[in-house]
Amino acid sequence: MARIIVVTSGKGGVGKTTTSAAIAMGLAKKGHRTAVIDFDVGLRNLDLIMGCERRVVYDFVNVINEEASINQALIRDKRSENLFILPASQTRDKDSLTKEGVGRVLGALSETFDYVVCDSPAGIEKGATLAMYYADDAIIVTNPEVSSVRDSDRMLGILASKSRRAETAAEPIKEYLLLTRYSPERVRLGEMLSVNDVQEILSLHLLGVIPDSKAVLNASNAGTPVILDDKSDAGQAYADVVARYLGEEVPHRFIEFQKRTLFGRLFGG
Ligand SMILES: Nc1ncnc2c1ncn2[C@@H]1O[C@H](COP(=O)(O)OP(=O)(O)OP(=O)(O)O)[C@@H](O)[C@H]1O
Ligand SMILES: [Mg+2]
Repeated sequence: MARIIVVTSGKGGVGKTTTSAAIAMGLAKKGHRTAVIDFDVGLRNLDLIMGCERRVVYDFVNVINEEASINQALIRDKRSENLFILPASQTRDKDSLTKEGVGRVLGALSETFDYVVCDSPAGIEKGATLAMYYADDAIIVTNPEVSSVRDSDRMLGILASKSRRAETAAEPIKEYLLLTRYSPERVRLGEMLSVNDVQEILSLHLLGVIPDSKAVLNASNAGTPVILDDKSDAGQAYADVVARYLGEEVPHRFIEFQKRTLFGRLFGG
């Protein structure tokens, strides 16, 4: 039985796809058979970030419509034999996803995978509600700004009421907070909410803090999940997140403002 993880947010553009790619790769690297699914039908971003866009033949909607089998549609990652990508369709509309169809695909994946990571579109439209419906765990990606935090709070209500676990009165979905695009310097200047501010509002278990980092854009341009850039701050922060998710105790990093020395400013240290 796979554990189904939804990566979700209220507000768009906060880092869900970046996070889904990084966490899926991180879990695979730790030896877990992992599938990552793009629920953002019509946009297709995940395959770009994973660097497999040219290998897409069949997609999630083809599998739901029984035009292809799951094995035909899954793309094996070139860097990790434990990782598979199920891309989204670029041409269909969001109504192509059905609760029954998504349930069938997740049920089949559950038989052979340890983890299924669902990269959700933002908000509460159909793709997003279906991505979270079958989840066991939810990672709520939030940026340290008021609008993002407020929209995350709204998502918590939906997770608690509109999921399969809620309907069947099973144990509730486990919710984790992931703060991304965090800049200790901007927090110090009062331009961003601090980790404590956000936790006070959402009171969720903090899975990690990902710094705002140029490494993320570089990685996505290269089609490489940023977690593979283990020299980068964001890559290291995502590695910590995966370790924490798997139950390791890892102290939080990249939260404190580090005053750069003249040497650091001159040489980018
Ligand atoms: N830690 C980070 N540091 C710097 N830039 C980041 C970081 N995380 C994400 N980004 C950038 O923010 C933008 C949005 O990221 P991403 O596509 O992962 O968000 P998303 O939540 O999946 O968006 P959507 O809601 O449209 O699906 C991208 O340009 C990405 O490179
Ligand atoms: Mg996305």
